[in-house]
Amino acid sequence: MVFQSKIKTIHWDNNTSEIIDQRLLPYEFKTINIKTCEEMYIAIKDMIIRGAPAIGIAGAHGITLAAIELSKKFPSKDEFLKELNKKAQHLKSSRPTAVNLMWAIDKQMNLAQSTRGSINEITAALIENAIKMENEDIEINKKIGDYGASIVPKGAVILTHCNAGALATVGYGTALGVIRSAFAKDPTIKVFADETRPRQQGARLTTWELTQDGIPTTLITDGMCSYFMSKGMIDMVVVGADRIASNGDSANKIGTYTVAIAAKYHNIPFYIAAPTSTIDISIKTGKEIPIEERSHEEVTHINGDWICAKDVDIINPGFDVTPNELITGIITEKGILKPDFKESIKRINKL
Ligand code: MRU
Repeated sequence: MVFQSKIKTIHWDNNTSEIIDQRLLPYEFKTINIKTCEEMYIAIKDMIIRGAPAIGIAGAHGITLAAIELSKKFPSKDEFLKELNKKAQHLKSSRPTAVNLMWAIDKQMNLAQSTRGSINEITAALIENAIKMENEDIEINKKIGDYGASIVPKGAVILTHCNAGALATVGYGTALGVIRSAFAKDPTIKVFADETRPRQQGARLTTWELTQDGIPTTLITDGMCSYFMSKGMIDMVVVGADRIASNGDSANKIGTYTVAIAAKYHNIPFYIAAPTSTIDISIKTGKEIPIEERSHEEVTHINGDWICAKDVDIINPGFDVTPNELITGIITEKGILKPDFKESIKRINKL
């Protein structure tokens, strides 16, 4: 039995990009068609689409939309490429932490610059490649799922943080891909999902997609994880990543670092599941990863209502960095990387 999430988070559709509006979940399921690069910039910035691999593909689609727009305005190829590059820089600035966004935009820009022929031929090549990258993302996640499933113990209870699922990718998911593949082999596995304050991606998105696949899921608040670990109720942790440095230090949703420390203390294996496009070999350690500071309203409000004193100070980093010594392994589409990550990342990068 193979479990396949039916969810397709982003899809190239007749010269538009159709995306699920994740701000509305789990209350309402609605897709919207993004028609311009600027609309895609806003969709990424406002987290209509979110999750590292998903915003990578959104970036690839965004550049393709830009090419379609610019091809109508700029007959000169040099001007067209110059303007496309400006759009690429702007799109990259929509969110700073997930490197998949920069990776996908750079891939499209390299293709645009290296394609011989007319502007229309460049645009056609970008469309073809955007669709290819979209399809490859699902294939990559299934490989991550297969590798990950091979190390999940029978009947395991797996803790996950945030949403690294079908909704954070084109489909299937990275951490939740591991869970889907493991559940297909062993329907006795169970999931504990952290709520993930402040935006509650765990509560709103992870529980929504896992329960649709019939995977037994228990929602807990972020502060509860060490309590359940101390009771022997968690067997392993699998989370996603937004950027992995050359030494294995991994940025993921704020709160992941706390989970990793608790897992180490309780001797519970802690795995990252991520495609190799999340590895940023240009940086040596996690200290170089830019951390997004998000709106203070995410902390001061829940569902539009104030939850604190109005004159309190707020700070709201969207991500934290888990140091490599807390990570048991990094599950990628090319295999499971083990410490020393500097060496295993170097090796995998050559494959
Ligand atoms: O702010 P978000 O919702 O985009 O953060 C998402 C995460 O932190 C995910 O865990 C990460 O992008 C990996 S998704 C496969």
